[in-house]
Amino acid sequence: MIVAQSVAELKHEVARLRAAGRRIAFVPTLGNLHAGHRHLMEQARRHADAVVASVYVNPLQFGPTEDFSAYPRTPEPDGALLEAAGVDLLFLPDDTAIYPRGRAWSTRIEVPAVSDILCGAARPGHFRGVATVVHRLFQIVTPDVALFGKKDYQQLLVIRLMTADFGLPIEIVGVDTVRDADGLAMSSRNAYLDPAERHIAPKLYATLQTLAGRTENRGASENGFSEHEAQAVEQLAAAGFRPEYVSVRRQQDLALPGLGDQRLVILAAAWLGRARLIDNLELHRKTATALPPSMGVELKPAS
Ligand code: PAJ
Repeated sequence: MIVAQSVAELKHEVARLRAAGRRIAFVPTLGNLHAGHRHLMEQARRHADAVVASVYVNPLQFGPTEDFSAYPRTPEPDGALLEAAGVDLLFLPDDTAIYPRGRAWSTRIEVPAVSDILCGAARPGHFRGVATVVHRLFQIVTPDVALFGKKDYQQLLVIRLMTADFGLPIEIVGVDTVRDADGLAMSSRNAYLDPAERHIAPKLYATLQTLAGRTENRGASENGFSEHEAQAVEQLAAAGFRPEYVSVRRQQDLALPGLGDQRLVILAAAWLGRARLIDNLELHRKTATALPPSMGVELKPAS
């Protein structure tokens, strides 16, 4: 595995891969890598002939009271994991490589609406920071395909929209969430959990599964899914979480689902101790809630 720290080095290595006719996959990360990240690298290999990964703790996506300083930095084990996963090129930029004019003065990228709801409502500016750094990394790495985890569902959508809006010739691939045996989605922030909290943590996913079952059985009521969502929030609070939201949305744009929408996703964020955990569950309603019989009658043209 070749390690590049400067933009010039990285571009030089990418040019060599291109000259050899290799299709390039890219997987950006914040580091402190786990089996979820390793899975992304392995999937990347299936989509391309060369895999480029980056590790950069992007200050722009952390709020002023968030865990930027505390975010675990583990360069040695990260390097070993990436090497073992068959990554060809690792980019380890510093702040000046990413924000040459200084982070406060750099152009920001804003994907409106979808950045302001759910996690974006609780973390103002977070998705602006994500869209900005991913755009910058795309510009440096110029991959053919880039892979992102569905664990960060809203992030994946922000990146898809940003890529489409700029017309970037990069295929965006969403990869299924890797979980521990008890269902907890793997996350670097799980390290913040003490043993008692770690025991409770899988209840986040279990709650989403219960909600999915209720949704499938009963469908939306007049108020959409709000009754089911409120039950899930109560369930989480009773288990010891401080829930931020549980929400049933449409997969394609995270808007509130209408009666005809079949491809849904349940998203949740909840605090447990000092860890903010997120998770989601995609569900496919086979038949949307039936229309009242009167609306199902076909109108025949008058003869
Ligand atoms: P990070 O949290 O390090 O995640 C890097 C990638 O790994 C993301 O695409 C994320 O969705 C994916 N990932 C994390 N946990 C996963 C799991 N359990 N299963 C599958 N995929 C998982 O997300 C970021 O970094 C940053 O916001 C970044 C995109 C790098 C921009 O700074």
